[in-house]
Amino acid sequence: MNRIQVKDKFFVPFLDAHTIHERITDLAAQINEDYQGKETLFIGILNGSFIFASDLFKKISIPASISFIKLVSYKGTTSSGTVITSIGLEEDLSDKHVVLVEDIVDTGRTLTEFIPVLKKQNPASVKICTLLQKPDALLFPLQVDYVGFSIPNKFVVGYGLDYDGMGRNSGEIYQLAD
Ligand code: IMP
Repeated sequence: MNRIQVKDKFFVPFLDAHTIHERITDLAAQINEDYQGKETLFIGILNGSFIFASDLFKKISIPASISFIKLVSYKGTTSSGTVITSIGLEEDLSDKHVVLVEDIVDTGRTLTEFIPVLKKQNPASVKICTLLQKPDALLFPLQVDYVGFSIPNKFVVGYGLDYDGMGRNSGEIYQLAD
């Protein structure tokens, strides 16, 4: 793995493909154990999670389905000033066990605002599985159930994560160079 350039910025190797895949195998094993006997709906949050969700889902052995959504926020009248909603979710969530699949939890704002919206559809349970989390960036009290890697508060790209739309198409994860 060598230093790469994405648009105007340089990134250095951070997590190689082997390390990522080993950790995903562990996460999937944990989920398979926790959800034994429960039909589970995985919901991948686009765009960033598409590669992670795909690799994770291939290792899921419990009865499961998968769907992808896009989250959009618009100006509304909540205390934070924005309202978040999803597009693309056609399933009826009532009594379903839902695992939300994210690429990265940064401040936690997106999921903190979206989970109450999801819970209005009365799922049996909702858990969060994220490949990456930046604990030092967390501003909202979000409980993240499955974390691939806790990482420093530095911008990363690759393996689905982007910088200004670019850099997603790498099997490895890179960190912004100093
Ligand atoms: P949050 O609502 O602050 O937790 O933001 C989560 C979203 O911010 C992720 O789904 C990413 O789209 C984006 N994001 C946060 N940190 C990074 C990063 O280091 N690289 C790429 N995208 C990031």
